[in-house]
Amino acid sequence: MMLAMDKNKLIGKANGMPWHIPGEQAYFKEVTMGKPIIMGRKTFDSIGRALPGRPNFVVTRNSEWHFDGVQVCSSLGDAIAKSSQWVVDNAGDKNLSEVVVIGGANLCAEAMPLTDRLYLTVIDHEYDGDVWLDSFDWKDWQECSRKDLEHEGLGYAYLVLEPKSK
Ligand SMILES: NC(=O)c1ccc[n+]([C@@H]2O[C@H](COP(=O)([O-])OP(=O)(O)OC[C@H]3O[C@@H](n4cnc5c(N)ncnc54)[C@H](OP(=O)(O)O)[C@@H]3O)[C@@H](O)[C@H]2O)c1
Repeated sequence: MMLAMDKNKLIGKANGMPWHIPGEQAYFKEVTMGKPIIMGRKTFDSIGRALPGRPNFVVTRNSEWHFDGVQVCSSLGDAIAKSSQWVVDNAGDKNLSEVVVIGGANLCAEAMPLTDRLYLTVIDHEYDGDVWLDSFDWKDWQECSRKDLEHEGLGYAYLVLEPKSK
């Protein structure tokens, strides 16, 4: 899973991001490029297009929903099955190992207990917004790596976390 949140676990505002941090998109691209990405339909709407270089799996309960370049999935399980098959079919030449759930909060609530690694950007600030990552609890995770950064006085960190129980 890969997400960015503020001090209060806020991740979204008006179906968009509450902040803009230069470099964060490049980091997202670096981690996800070449890997299947799974997202909720609202997150897809906020992006507005299929992200290139990665097979895009969008989860929706609307059986009529479709979009060019997107594989539609009826549940998280369906998305995991389809994206895992994609990895099997494509692993030979690309050394792939991850399928990445990229949000939003709704889909992540279901995916959190299944997650083996969490790429979490934590921004040291409190923003206004309307979507929080309530399913994330610091006590369930251990830090594997951490990179502290700053942009115009704003501190943020790229964390890689793994569940304590696994
Ligand atoms: N900060 C970050 O890293 C980050 C990352 C991603 C998104 N975001 C933000 O998060 C917000 C969107 O998050 P959200 O929680 O509102 O929505 P979301 O999880 O992106 O999408 C919710 C939709 O996904 C579908 N869905 C979810 N679980 C499902 C399931 N188990 N089975 C079938 N369909 C399922 C449903 O689509 P249908 O209604 O079509 O059935 C549901 O309405 C936006 O503001 C976005 O910008 C932030």
